[in-house]
Amino acid sequence: MTGKVVTDRIRNFCIVAHINHGKSTLADRFLELTNTIGQGHRSQLLDSNPIEQERGITIKLAPVRMSYQLNGSDYLLNLIDTPGHVDFGYEVSRSLAACEGAILLVDAVSGIQAQTVANFSLAMEQGLEIVPVINKIDVPTADAELVRKQLQESFGFQIPEILLVSAKTGQGVGEVLERVIGKVPPPVGRPNEPWRALVFNSSYDQHRGVLAWVRVIDGSLEINRQSETYLRFLGTNTRCRLSEIGFFSPEKKPTDMIGVGEVGYVVTGLKDLSFFRPGDTVVIDGQPGVIPLPGYQPVKPMVYAGVYPVDNADYELLATSLEKLRLSDAALSIDPEYSEGLGKGFRCGFLGLLHAEIVQERLSREFGVSLVVTPPTVAYKVIKTNGEEMTLLTVSEYPDQAQIKLVEEPVALMSLFTPLAYMAKLIGLCKQKRAWLVAQEYYGTQVKLVFKIPLSEMVAGLYDQIKNYSSGFASLDWQEAGYQPIESVRLDILFNGERADSFSQIVPRLRVEQRGRELVEKLGELIPRQQFEIRIQAAVGGKIMARRDVKAFRKDVTAKLYGGD
Ligand code: GTP
Repeated sequence: MTGKVVTDRIRNFCIVAHINHGKSTLADRFLELTNTIGQGHRSQLLDSNPIEQERGITIKLAPVRMSYQLNGSDYLLNLIDTPGHVDFGYEVSRSLAACEGAILLVDAVSGIQAQTVANFSLAMEQGLEIVPVINKIDVPTADAELVRKQLQESFGFQIPEILLVSAKTGQGVGEVLERVIGKVPPPVGRPNEPWRALVFNSSYDQHRGVLAWVRVIDGSLEINRQSETYLRFLGTNTRCRLSEIGFFSPEKKPTDMIGVGEVGYVVTGLKDLSFFRPGDTVVIDGQPGVIPLPGYQPVKPMVYAGVYPVDNADYELLATSLEKLRLSDAALSIDPEYSEGLGKGFRCGFLGLLHAEIVQERLSREFGVSLVVTPPTVAYKVIKTNGEEMTLLTVSEYPDQAQIKLVEEPVALMSLFTPLAYMAKLIGLCKQKRAWLVAQEYYGTQVKLVFKIPLSEMVAGLYDQIKNYSSGFASLDWQEAGYQPIESVRLDILFNGERADSFSQIVPRLRVEQRGRELVEKLGELIPRQQFEIRIQAAVGGKIMARRDVKAFRKDVTAKLYGGD
């Protein structure tokens, strides 16, 4: 009994879009139209936390189940969210794997952007049926016809298949759902095989532990009231007791069973989110021979920074706060670290800079910890002359130059999407950052530029510079692309002759003088004047590359400050 069935009343789909193109607004209209929420009630689930709301980005939305009637038939529509920001690309592809179709949503004012292209490619790779939709047609400056042509020329859609909507007013939104039902294929699976589901995301409930969000591939999972059911997550080989099955609509709704093609959650009671990786396969424990689904890959931090409490007395508070954050954020890594100048703290690993900023803000806002965060670094690989290989997360581990055979640095494949007018300037900027152009593709009046670039250059504020150079028009997407050899040295900073480890950096040999000068200048501006003079120097192995002195207060100034005569 391995026959496949088509569950023809279910549609699993997502909305992929560049940031701010209106994904959450459209999702809200869907929820209203299907009476999943009342008119004008913005769904709580669709607004995950205040920082996401303030920045206008969404990182994690629960999958929602909606019911919709069309031509006398009832359909179950599962809307699965995909994160919109570049740091979370891997999570996007896992979410897509839970769907059969995707709405490609493009803003009628700004047109195709970097994540439009990136998400379109990801959705095509996953073999999804794509429903192209242009949003914000109510905006007076919108040019839907131009964007329609862009979509036709860039992705090969036919003009009539491209829908025009206003997620704000609701115009055209019903047709989108009908197109989804008509065009997106229903899920196919084997109902009589052992239960097997894709874990595409997870969330943390303070009282009940981790909820894994799953898409059922084969079989069905039922709540057994007579005996306990145990689940096993194959990628992390974690076993847990099943305490509830349910779906989001948009609140949690417990149910007795989830079967082929359905989307829902399982409550695991486990307290550590690091056992739950997007892309993992979950099965009923004790059913041998169930084959894991393809595509599982542990998330890996790309950027590291030292995180220290301003006041050493806050160390315990920082430690417990980080632990709490990690419960709901499996991509965050934490290791204790000690620095001469800053005391006890942690080396944290993040998916990217935005992820780092969000963690930092949550620590100070939600937990009230004041922080010192060191500049972000990347993980270098060092091969020593004795053959030993090490991965460096902090510069203080950098071995003596004489012991180093080879250093390798991580590189990224970075795509910029920009109006043609900014192309030359952006290529110039990227070349200064040791990037080289590997491909370019034209999309009407826009161009996609693909660079290979050292990750360390990318995380050092390149995103902001790209926005400045292009008056905000260029957008960026990136993914990791392995390692390359680098001729590097360790650049140290000395204050009055004393080395301050937390300011040390690994820099390309070619750039060492420039970096040294930049660093002492910047520190010179940042450091407040003291009663004594401070000599700031940049040095490589004892050789001074740059120097700046911060003068002491003049006597008359200190006199005034201290009220002397
Ligand atoms: P991420 O959460 O970062 O992925 O953004 P998003 O794509 O979900 O965008 P969101 O729905 O938050 O919309 C971004 C902004 O555009 C908001 O200010 C919306 O009110 C506005 N917006 C969305 N759709 C429309 C529309 O059809 N017309 C107009 N005028 N504004 C819209």
